[in-house]
Amino acid sequence: MEPINLFDYEKLAQERLDPAIWEHIYGGSEDEVTLHANRSAFEHLRLRPRVLVDVSTIDMHISALGAPLSMPIGIAPSAGHQIVVPEGEYATAHAAEQANTLMIVSCFASRTVEEIASATTGPLWLQIYTHRSLEITGRLVQRAEHAGYRAIVLTVDTAHLGRRERDLRNNFQRTQYAPLANFIDTTGTTPAQLNHLIDTWETVDWLRSLTKLPILLKGILTAEDALLAVERGVDGIIVSNHGGRQLDGALASIEALPEIALAVAERCEIYLDGGIRRGSDVMKAIALGARAVFIGRPILWGMAVAGEIGAKHVLEILRQELYMAMTLAGRPDLAALDRSLIKS
Ligand code: FNR
Repeated sequence: MEPINLFDYEKLAQERLDPAIWEHIYGGSEDEVTLHANRSAFEHLRLRPRVLVDVSTIDMHISALGAPLSMPIGIAPSAGHQIVVPEGEYATAHAAEQANTLMIVSCFASRTVEEIASATTGPLWLQIYTHRSLEITGRLVQRAEHAGYRAIVLTVDTAHLGRRERDLRNNFQRTQYAPLANFIDTTGTTPAQLNHLIDTWETVDWLRSLTKLPILLKGILTAEDALLAVERGVDGIIVSNHGGRQLDGALASIEALPEIALAVAERCEIYLDGGIRRGSDVMKAIALGARAVFIGRPILWGMAVAGEIGAKHVLEILRQELYMAMTLAGRPDLAALDRSLIKS
């Protein structure tokens, strides 16, 4: 089968991957209610197309914290890409570069921040958790700044790892397949030091004092927290429920977006991830207030099927679908994607 959409890639990836790895990527926490909600919430939104608009050219260029991107679709952070392909994050970074878009690198990547930066000229952001040793976290942030990363993304929805029951049943240990490259160094970091610290809003102040890079918080789902983030001076928010892998029963990220966009009122940039599988989903997210979106699992499917080429193809499929969706909706540029596109 020649994959022509992201769901084809999902099927092919499932056929190719070790079942435990497949389930690790697929799974959500507990009953996977939020995992499924991320998809069904998109499906329930209906579009209000306009007709007889000049759609002979479609412009989907955007900037993300100043970095120009060819489209409003980037790569969400996911740990250890060597679980799907030996090249690991090199493949992902090349795919993002060729698509002229942004990659968010997980602190749990299977290549170091420096190795990934030297493999691409494209923009990179580093996602972090704060580890029990703040010194280790601080050092990683400074390494990223030195290596040319453009922003730091603090994931705030993981006070504790969600109960991912598929992984528990399979006794899945990611580090059996993919090393924690950033932490294998001469500092003698121990696994205990890598345990998460329980973050508070003070952690954001600490991060602010540590780096000049823009800071984004990933995992905001309410207007209340979005307002606190703005008051704290963050540069961006990623509306996310971690792909349904943290609090099960939490609302779909696209459901959370409108109230957050309203509360933030353009005081920082807003992004979204979770359940994006079609160009029309991207269009819906932008119409409801996102500047751009990120995809998590589909990139891993693409790489499981065809390495760098597969990841690039996944991005190009979404680009073509977004192009088609904007054309058929009579919205020739991203500024034309506003709330009037969505049936209330
Ligand atoms: C993730 N995600 C994630 N998020 C993060 O902040 N740091 C991380 O290391 C990881 N690791 C990770 C591994 C795997 C296998 C998955 C599937 C996800 C969450 C990720 O950034 C993103 O929020 C979701 O994947 C988005 O949902 P979709 O696109 O997968 O539906």
